[in-house]
Amino acid sequence: ARKIIIDTDPGQDDAVAILLALASPEDIDVLGITAVAGNVPLPLTQKNARTICELANKAHVGVYAGCDRPLGRDLVTAEHVHGKTGLNGPDLADPTMPLQDTHAVDYIIDTLRAHPAGTVTLCPLGPLTNIAMAFEKAPDIMEKVQEIVLMGGAYFEVGNITPTAEFNIYVDPQAARIVFKSGVPIVMMPLDVTHKALVTAPRNDAFRALNTPVGIAVAQMTDFFERFDKEKYGSTGAPLHDPCVTAYLIAPDLFSGRHVNVEIETQSELTMGMTVVDWWRVTDRAPNATVIGDVNADGFFDLLTQRLGRL
Ligand code: BDR
Ligand code: CA
Repeated sequence: ARKIIIDTDPGQDDAVAILLALASPEDIDVLGITAVAGNVPLPLTQKNARTICELANKAHVGVYAGCDRPLGRDLVTAEHVHGKTGLNGPDLADPTMPLQDTHAVDYIIDTLRAHPAGTVTLCPLGPLTNIAMAFEKAPDIMEKVQEIVLMGGAYFEVGNITPTAEFNIYVDPQAARIVFKSGVPIVMMPLDVTHKALVTAPRNDAFRALNTPVGIAVAQMTDFFERFDKEKYGSTGAPLHDPCVTAYLIAPDLFSGRHVNVEIETQSELTMGMTVVDWWRVTDRAPNATVIGDVNADGFFDLLTQRLGRL
């Protein structure tokens, strides 16, 4: 199984991504979960991460709190998408498992140093603040990372928080720039692919039909997400952005993309946080990321539903 650290700002779709990982021990070994400010402020994201571990009956997983604001900007949150708590939808009990004492940035550094090079994968599902801080504080860890598989950015689909920027990158463009310039192999799940992983009514019914606390909670979470999305975008299903990351670790063949150059806009007010993806390779800039463009959505939902059924 692949050893991973999930860096996250739950978020209903983060929650589903975490549940999929925790349900798949033969493929994914979750070393720890680090929380970052993003969809909602840090006190809520670290709490939500623990709530999800307990929902999955995996209270032994260490949850670490990280940065409470982006590197050089004020925090932008997304309660308009995820609700006031970040996990609106199901009525979940407050967690009783403890938050770890170590700061998430130190946990990431210590964990990479403690493992052989090329054996730990980082899975960022929110703004890249914790990862960039760890790289700045301990540059020696960069060459130890096996891969970064992240949700963020967009190319043809442009933006969801501004006309040109996707939320995770927009919240901390400086951090994203550090990560994309790090030289670490990156797999990027942009809106272009996540907007193909839509929870249609039959897919939501399949979650609910699991008839387990996890299946029902996931159905309620995606119900909440969907209601929002229909009002705002007229789309017919909740996009499961972050689960694309953990599904890719289990079944990479469900996805396809291109190895290309990606740069992050950090200067222009108008296009701040835009991921400039050289999809057609019109520059000679070196490729630094595999940008995923397509997913076998039926295969993705079959895998997700089957795995969630184990919890
Ligand atoms: C990303 O932003 C958050 O709202 C979601 O959790 C996802 O990580 C989508 O733009
Ligand atoms: Ca997220």
